[in-house]
Amino acid sequence: MPLLNVRDIDTFYGASHVLHSLALSVEQGEIECVLGRNGVGKTTLLKSIVGLTPPRRGTITFKGDDITRMRVNRRAHLGIGYVPQGREIFPDITVMDNLRLGLVARNDGLKRVPDEIFDFFPMLKPLVDRTGGLLSGGEQQQLAIARALCGNPELLLLDEPTEGIQPSVVQEIERIIKRIHHEKKLTIILVEQKLDFARNVSQEFTIMVKGRVAREANIHSLTDEVIREYLTI
Ligand SMILES: Nc1ncnc2c1ncn2[C@@H]1O[C@H](COP(=O)(O)OP(=O)(O)OP(=O)(O)O)[C@@H](O)[C@H]1O
Ligand SMILES: [Mg+2]
Repeated sequence: MPLLNVRDIDTFYGASHVLHSLALSVEQGEIECVLGRNGVGKTTLLKSIVGLTPPRRGTITFKGDDITRMRVNRRAHLGIGYVPQGREIFPDITVMDNLRLGLVARNDGLKRVPDEIFDFFPMLKPLVDRTGGLLSGGEQQQLAIARALCGNPELLLLDEPTEGIQPSVVQEIERIIKRIHHEKKLTIILVEQKLDFARNVSQEFTIMVKGRVAREANIHSLTDEVIREYLTI
């Protein structure tokens, strides 16, 4: 049984039909990359899984439970962590308070930020008392991932974690994602535009075109020909 099974979902914004009979299945422990040009519905897919834009048709199961109509916070408690595109950390509170807010998704009642967070993200340690909005883009991105990890997820959804981030920090984020995946056996869905990054971290890929799945295969099949056909602008 896959950890997450998205079965033929249709998602709308009002009358605007964005996802069309979209299917995606992700096995436990896998990193699945979702690729596609701007506006094809990658973020909407993640939001449908998280519960922010529930699909009008189709079903989503997580660990065998039907979560299609479940509320956002219940999905988080079940183990779905989400790092939205553009990071969305809280700019007016400290780094530590941002991390503490991530704890509410846990189901073990832990009230303090676990030490492992600073083991994965040592750069956050000297910044704990700093206001979130004063961090650099790269630091905010790492804070956003760290905050999601504070919820102890089994499935982590990352929406373009390298967008607008300088190359050295992209490398750092790549290293951290690989380490989290390896040490915590985390299952990850990664929406990504940087193909090298996607190749370096994922095992499987799904390409979306206009709200539909156009290709799904092992990451080694992401050839230049496939890239030209579906991803080059
Ligand atoms: N809140 C909204 N209300 C109405 N339409 C929306 C909303 N958010 C997104 N859309 C539309 O839905 C479609 C899919 O958007 P989505 O953000 O999911 O694409 P994306 O693949 O994540 O794009 P990008 O690569 O630019 O992040 C687009 O046509 C977009 O304009
Ligand atoms: Mg998007």
